Formats: sequence, C-alpha cells, structure tokens
Amino acid sequence: MNGKTIPDEVVEKLIHLADWAPNHGKTEPWFFFIYRGEGLSTFSKAHAELYLQNTAEDKRNDATYERLLHCTDKVSHLVIAVMKRGINPKIPQFEEVAAASAGVQNILLGATAMGIASFWSTGGMTLQPALKNYLQLAEEDLVLGMLFLGYTDEPLKEGVRTIPMSEKTKWL
Ligand SMILES: Cc1cc2nc3c(=O)[nH]c(=O)nc-3n(C[C@H](O)[C@H](O)[C@H](O)COP(=O)(O)O)c2cc1C
Repeated sequence: MNGKTIPDEVVEKLIHLADWAPNHGKTEPWFFFIYRGEGLSTFSKAHAELYLQNTAEDKRNDATYERLLHCTDKVSHLVIAVMKRGINPKIPQFEEVAAASAGVQNILLGATAMGIASFWSTGGMTLQPALKNYLQLAEEDLVLGMLFLGYTDEPLKEGVRTIPMSEKTKWL
C-alpha cells in the first residue's frame, strides 16, 4: 500500500455493505472496529505489546515485534472483523461465523470495485485470547480477522487457483 488515505465516508460505505450479509434469524452477528489516523499507530503499538507480553521468551523475536509495530504504516484503515454471537441460541455458531464472514466478503468485493486494495489477515495476535481481551469481547465472540485497506500503486495481481473446479464440484 502507498500510504494514501481513503475518505472515512468511503470506508463507511464498505462497512455498510457488510450489514447486508445474509444471516439466519436476523441476528446480524457482526461487529467492526475501524482504526484510522492516529488510531492505527495506537493499535499497532498495542498489538506489538500484546505480542511481547503473551509470547514465551524463547519464542519471541524482534523481527515479529517490529513487523507488528509497523504493519499499518502504509495502510489507510484497519478493520477488525468480529463475529459477535447473536442472542438466539438456536442459531449454531458456524452459521454466525458464516454470516459475519459473508459480511467481510461484501467489504472485500466493495473495496475491489472501488479500486481499494484489501488484505484479510489472521496474523500476529489476531486469533489469540489476548487480542479478544484487549477488544473486550465476550467469550462466545470470535475475531475473524484484520482487514487492511488502502490504496496501492501496484497493478491488481492475477488470481491463482491450484485445485481445478472439477475437483470441487459435483453436478447431479
Ligand atoms: C480467514 C483468512 C485469514 C487469512 N489470513 C492470512 C494471513 O494471516 N496471512 C496471509 O498472508 N494471508 C492470509 N489470508 C489470505 C489472504 O487474505 C488472501 O486471501 C490471499 O493472499 C489470496 O488472495 P487472492 O486469492 O485474492 O489472490 C487469509 C485469508 C482468509 C480467508
């Protein structure tokens, strides 16, 4: 990414696309933390500190710490996508994850359509309880990933798929 800033109103439109994801039982089980401006560096510092505090001394390394500290330097907005468990216990957890993930896909498709670069990551502390705790989420909630949004000077990369569709479909 090249460090250029997406207007907040545009990111807001993308987040609103997520709100139209299909969901079972009208639970709307998604929540988004949106970091921008100084919020980005504040979060990245916290993320790197969480890594230090929650990684055993023999597993820690300076390169990872630095990577986490700087991974939003050229990013416009960072969206943390969460499956926020709905109030209907009859809806199985996987359906809530599926619905919230469909919302994430809406964001990514919208971003691509608007010429915005995006990247869905579960790197760093994304899947660790420490991050969930930092975000003050409930036990039953789930962080689905970090969505890095920004502009890029690089051309859109050609998609790569290695497993043919014939191996992933069965017509009956
Ligand atoms: C839930 C999820 C988590 C992901 N986490 C990572 C990650 O931590 N690091 C990474 O390099 N790619 C990760 N990816 C893959 C990238 O987001 C992206 O899908 C991949 O680079 C291929 O993109 P393309 O198929 O659009 O070319 C993740 C994808 C998903 C769906």
